[in-house]
Amino acid sequence: MAGNWKMYKTPQETATFFQRFVPLVSGMSQCEIVIFPPSIDIAAAVASAGGSNIAVGGQNLYWGKEGAFTGEISAEMLAAAGARWVLVGHSERRHVVTHETDADVLKKTQAALAGGLTPIVCVGERLEEHKAGKTNEVLVKQFAAGVAGLTEEQFAQVVVAYEPVWAIGTGQTATPEIAAAAHKLIREEADKRFGTEAAAKMHILYGGSVKPDNIDGLMKEVEIDGALVGGASLDPDSFSKIVKAA
Ligand code: PGA
Repeated sequence: MAGNWKMYKTPQETATFFQRFVPLVSGMSQCEIVIFPPSIDIAAAVASAGGSNIAVGGQNLYWGKEGAFTGEISAEMLAAAGARWVLVGHSERRHVVTHETDADVLKKTQAALAGGLTPIVCVGERLEEHKAGKTNEVLVKQFAAGVAGLTEEQFAQVVVAYEPVWAIGTGQTATPEIAAAAHKLIREEADKRFGTEAAAKMHILYGGSVKPDNIDGLMKEVEIDGALVGGASLDPDSFSKIVKAA
């Protein structure tokens, strides 16, 4: 169960969140709990989560280890700050703040793994593609160019998140059936490239307007292994309710 805070919260607000959130989820071991704060808050999040069952991740990384890349952060830097996870290819990075390509996604995923982080690779179709019935085509392309280039060893360490862009931040979540069908397609692509066993082991999260009142329906689908939650992860009470549905 992953909480993507996007560009919300200061270090002080991060500490306040953890003071409330840690006791709400303490002792829960049925899933991994990861918070992805803005990078300026990672140190505060790691310090506040210390000794708890909550891990911390970065929302983005650059594939170089270090160098003249103004504004970027490497996997090694995230890991040194105490992050263990990283989001790769979030739709806002693909379509809003910058234009990350599938090739970038592959390079970032490889860099994350080389730097000791677990990447959550995000895929998903835009509204116009959804309306035009192109969901499968988009997912096949994103998987082929962004994930299939990994080695079998690398793929075994990757988590995938299916996030239909039309459902992100819109309050319009995909129905459990729509999400499950997309997850099944992604698993089939993984099966073709990496084999049945590796595909069965892969964790696929659903993301897009997940809330306490729709998480149960989503988690009933065997294809859905967890959730990547934006807005509803900013509040300790609502995110703890979502985590409990795991
Ligand atoms: P949302 O965001 O839950 O606010 O729709 C999900 C995400 O972008 O990961």
